[in-house]
Amino acid sequence: PRPILLTRHGESHDNLRGRIGGDPILSDAGEKYALKLADFVNKRLKTERTASIWTSTLQRTILTAHHIVGFPKVQWRALDEINAGVCDGMTYDEIKENMPDEYAARKLDKLRYRYPRGESYLDVIQRLEPVIIELERQRSPVVVIAHQAVLRALYAYFADKPLKEVPHIEVPLHTIIEIQMGVTGVQEKRYKLME
Ligand code: F6P
Repeated sequence: PRPILLTRHGESHDNLRGRIGGDPILSDAGEKYALKLADFVNKRLKTERTASIWTSTLQRTILTAHHIVGFPKVQWRALDEINAGVCDGMTYDEIKENMPDEYAARKLDKLRYRYPRGESYLDVIQRLEPVIIELERQRSPVVVIAHQAVLRALYAYFADKPLKEVPHIEVPLHTIIEIQMGVTGVQEKRYKLME
C-alpha cells in the first residue's frame, strides 16, 4: 500500500508572532525542520520507484520542500491556507479586540464561519475536492506539505472524522502524519521530528 505523508510547513516568522495568513518565510526552527523533513523523506521513500511532493503556492511550504531532491514537486493553489480575508495578518488577540463580533461568531461556529472577504472551513473542504480525487488516484507515495486548516480537512477525510470536528483536529508543527491506505482500512503513524 502507498503512503500519504501529511505535514505542515516549518515554523514561519508569522507563527512566531502569532499572526494568521500572510506569505512569510521560515524561522530558523522552520529551516531546521525543512532539513529534517528532507532526511526523513529520503529514508522513508528510498525503496519507492516514484513519489511526488505537493505544496501550496505559499513560500512557507515551498521552502519547507526545498531540500527534498529527486522527486517531482507540484504546487497546488487549492492547498493554500484558509483565506482569513480582512483578518489576514492579524493575531487572534487583535481580532478579538478590533472585531469582537467576528471573533465571537467564529468561536460559535468555526466550521461555518466565513471571514469577511475570506473563507470558512466548509469553503476549504470544498476546494480540496480535486486534490482528494487526485490523491486517491495516485499509485505512488505523495508528500503533502501544506497548512493547519487545509491539513485538518485532508486528514479528516482520510481518517473519516465527522465534519464538526474538522476545525479542532490537532495538526502540530514539525510532525509528519503518515496515512496508509490498505485493504483493511486506513492506518496512521505520527512522527514528531522536533519541538
Ligand atoms: O496560525 C497558522 C494558521 O495556519 C493561520 O494561517 C490560519 O489562519 C490558522 O492557522 C488556521 O487555524 P484556525 O482555524 O484554528 O484559526
